Amino acid sequence: MTSNLTDPMDLKESLESLRQETVGAVAAATDSDALAEVEAGAVGRESPIAAARRGLGKMAPDERRDAGRLINEVAKELEAMVAARRAELRAEERADAIRKEAIDVTVDYTELTSGRLHVIQQVMDEVCDIFVGLGYHIAEGPEAELAWYNFDALNTPPDHPGRLESDTMYLDYGKPEDEMLLRAHTSPIQARYMEQHDPPVYIVAPGRAYRNDTIDASHLPVFHQIEGLAVDESIQFSDLKGTLAEFARQFFGAETQVRMRPHFFPFTEPSAELDVSCFNCDGGESSCRVCKGVGWLEMLGCGMVDPNVFEAVGYDPDAVTGFAFGMGVERLAMVRHGIDSIRHFVDNDVRFLNQFPG
Ligand code: PHE
Repeated sequence: MTSNLTDPMDLKESLESLRQETVGAVAAATDSDALAEVEAGAVGRESPIAAARRGLGKMAPDERRDAGRLINEVAKELEAMVAARRAELRAEERADAIRKEAIDVTVDYTELTSGRLHVIQQVMDEVCDIFVGLGYHIAEGPEAELAWYNFDALNTPPDHPGRLESDTMYLDYGKPEDEMLLRAHTSPIQARYMEQHDPPVYIVAPGRAYRNDTIDASHLPVFHQIEGLAVDESIQFSDLKGTLAEFARQFFGAETQVRMRPHFFPFTEPSAELDVSCFNCDGGESSCRVCKGVGWLEMLGCGMVDPNVFEAVGYDPDAVTGFAFGMGVERLAMVRHGIDSIRHFVDNDVRFLNQFPG
């Protein structure tokens, strides 16, 4: 702007062209920094407006008032333009920031589903519930066990094959009183419980057991058992059969039959294995995938508590009798659900596990 700002006509023209320039420059400013520059150039210390104000002093007094008013009007207009644009830019910048920081709620996310109990835990809970319903208490014992409770207190002689390292996992060698192993069954809980409690005893004891077995479709070196023990003044073999028959009906269905076959366990005499009638077929259908046509399913080991066990735990074998049983939880779950390999329980494949919502 090279015009003479002290001449009223020039001043008017200059201010008009300044106004027009500024309209364009304000609109072209795309951020607040650029706008600040436009503002300084239009109304700042070095601007034509400032120069025009400085020129007022040199004007004739009668022209000064009109020129001053005109300068102020234009200056106000320019400031208003800048202010309006500043508000616009602020709004744009804020919208931009919000857009950048926004969370897109439509984006796919990892669903956190609630967990569920493993099918083995479900079966253990269910079996324990049935026995609690029959008046039993729950007992537990250590997985790292003394050889004494795992074998000797259970009438198992030092030369029993189950004591070989090929069968049992040892932690520390020594005399039975301090030799440590991973319990090979839940039966040591019987001995520990009787040592600590006077008869009568009605307990079930769930837990892990360990054996030096090679993994195949029906064996895992770590598996689960549920032990049962009833000791009272006049318990008979028929009580054992009746109790297990009731359990089988509640677990497998009201029509379930049971049968017993003679067997041997060091800690029970007499001993038996319990079979339940196949719940899948009416018995002996050769195409049945559960019993393979046998009609019966091998379920558990049981028997009347051997008097030597009572003696080992400090009970009077002439005053009490009792029965005991032990069942494999994986076996129960496999039979109940038609599972073909025990390995499924430890593969942790959710496609398997999700089939047992509990
Ligand atoms: N402990 C035996 C086993 O592991 C099962 C059992 C328990 C048998 C109690 C009789 C009485 O095979």
